[in-house]
Amino acid sequence: MRLPDGLCYYSDSLAALVESLNQASEYSEYRKVVMPQLNILVGTMYGGALDVAEQVKPLFEAAGYEVNIAEQPTLDDVTSDDGVSLFVISTTGSGDYPGNFVPFVRNLSDQSPALTSLRYGLIALGDSSYADTFCGAGRQLDALLEEHGARRLGERLEIDAMETFMADDAAVPWVETWIDEQLKGA
Ligand SMILES: Cc1cc2nc3c(=O)[nH]c(=O)nc-3n(C[C@H](O)[C@H](O)[C@H](O)COP(=O)(O)O)c2cc1C
Repeated sequence: MRLPDGLCYYSDSLAALVESLNQASEYSEYRKVVMPQLNILVGTMYGGALDVAEQVKPLFEAAGYEVNIAEQPTLDDVTSDDGVSLFVISTTGSGDYPGNFVPFVRNLSDQSPALTSLRYGLIALGDSSYADTFCGAGRQLDALLEEHGARRLGERLEIDAMETFMADDAAVPWVETWIDEQLKGA
């Protein structure tokens, strides 16, 4: 049957739309299957840790990772698959977790899921003028993750605001090495 001209136009456009939707969903399936996922979980009061996360994100993408930055981290970010996570977390108060990170820690302590398939890296931002509580949140988080069976890849990076004015000056080279030494082939 021959469709009227106007209908033909709509039918062609519809076919093109369906085709591009198919391609888009094939691409997202492809990315799920082929590209490993990396979650960056951020704990920040003033945005410094988020800035670090945004600066290092392209390094992971260049290494073939699909990167998600979690600004309000939840347990789902670390329990949904056996991916790799990077925590970037500052300290506030007297060794306290930043407000946006408190629900994550509370749920981890309350629900106590096994995190045995979680491998992670940790960048802690702090200020050594706070002496005893230097990088307190990052250190506590590291201990808590280990208690739940997660495995840290490499050493924790601690960035001291007294020594490093721009945190990404320390974070970027650390992440480059972390990718090379810990992620490739991990
Ligand atoms: C009110 C306040 C309390 C802080 N307490 C600590 C602390 O106990 N230990 C520490 O190492 N750094 C402490 N810091 C320093 C911050 O962790 C540091 O400046 C960090 O780079 C801030 O990162 P953010 O912008 O992601 O929050 C404190 C900073 C402020 C403003």
